Amino acid sequence: MRQKSILLAGNWKMNHGPSAAEGYFSAIEIAPKANAQMRIYPPFLSLSASLNTVEQKKLPIQIGAQNLHFEKTGAFTGEVSGPMLQEIGITQVLIGHSERRQYFAETDETVLKKTISALNQGFEVLLCVGETLEERKSGTTNLVMETQLKLILSDEICKSALGLKLHIAYEPVWAIGTGLVATPEQAEETHAYIRSLLVNSIGAPKADTVRLLYGGSVTPANFKDLLACPNIDGGLVGGASLKPESWMALWNLI
Ligand code: 13P
Repeated sequence: MRQKSILLAGNWKMNHGPSAAEGYFSAIEIAPKANAQMRIYPPFLSLSASLNTVEQKKLPIQIGAQNLHFEKTGAFTGEVSGPMLQEIGITQVLIGHSERRQYFAETDETVLKKTISALNQGFEVLLCVGETLEERKSGTTNLVMETQLKLILSDEICKSALGLKLHIAYEPVWAIGTGLVATPEQAEETHAYIRSLLVNSIGAPKADTVRLLYGGSVTPANFKDLLACPNIDGGLVGGASLKPESWMALWNLI
């Protein structure tokens, strides 16, 4: 039986500027849990305000960035690099979110480059994968998982980081922001498939230590049933992470 280590992660996307972030964390009251970790990914501009408020209140919450560039410095207008994030105390980063793939032309190749760069710089990475509605309807979900993870699972740096500094979030694109949550059966089926890909690449003992998070319309109403699935190790939450009440309600379900 796998020992679960739960991660409740909130992705604020392009919501909550610095003052809203400060107000949010001022309103959060949570107790630490032995078997679970809480993390929030605010927008870049709100990272410092989030870190400061969390630190002042001694909240057990990790703060991470939603993206980073794979180069450390250079002519990349509008981008943010790993050293810049580290300078303000960020050690966590989200990579390959479907919105980055969909609207900002990120590919499996750039996702790999970012992941390797982030790992080489000592970041902990949460890597996102997920199929579109068309792909699910045409029965190719497993194939999409295989494709999106292929480069990662054949790279030695990524393979050795899995379970330590590299974890995975499965977010079906059709369930993101739509209110259409995957059923626990649908989510578990894909999580189990991803786990089998990990077993093939790094062996069962190590594959068991990789956190596989589910994301897509997670709310306090459906989180418990998702968490009960053997291969679901937590949630990557958008909408329900934006209000302190729903966020604390999710934490209290763990
Ligand atoms: P929602 O929870 O709003 O569906 O967003 C999920 C998500 O994309 C988190 O990264």
